[in-house]
Amino acid sequence: MKIGNVRLRNGFFLAPMANVSTLPFRRLCKEYGAGLTTGEMVSCEAALRGSKRTEATVVRAREEKPFAIQVFGSAPKRIALAAEALEKKCEIIDLNFGCPVRHIIRRGGGCCIIEESSQECSRVTSREGSEMRS
Ligand SMILES: Cc1cc2nc3c(=O)[nH]c(=O)nc-3n(C[C@H](O)[C@H](O)[C@H](O)COP(=O)(O)O)c2cc1C
Repeated sequence: MKIGNVRLRNGFFLAPMANVSTLPFRRLCKEYGAGLTTGEMVSCEAALRGSKRTEATVVRAREEKPFAIQVFGSAPKRIALAAEALEKKCEIIDLNFGCPVRHIIRRGGGCCIIEESSQECSRVTSREGSEMRS
């Protein structure tokens, strides 16, 4: 199975789960055969300001390859910039454009962002995204 050019051992993925998908939990899931693990979602703003807590969140175990990092935020351009900075630490960037949780949508992120900036959001995931970051 492949996602883009990333080959996966199987189709069993650990879904991104805030406050659950911690490093020890992910290691257990790998042990039980997960083909892909995703870390807890990180805020693009925290990633861009170099937050120590966010840096710790995106540390993966040696066996977590491939590994995905989920990013959320309220400005597509900032999400694109953070994704670019984080892509060195993982094989897959998971864009959180669907989270319905109140504290995320209150900040204009998650599913809210698709409604408000759908055209810009689609550019984050396209080749044109590189223009946004320049
Ligand atoms: C405790 C918990 C935290 C979650 N956190 C996130 C999250 O941070 N980002 C996200 O995209 N989905 C999150 N989800 C949704 C899951 O990734 C998944 O899509 C959902 O549980 C449905 O998966 P299922 O169809 O395998 O049950 C969370 C779900 C749970 C139960």
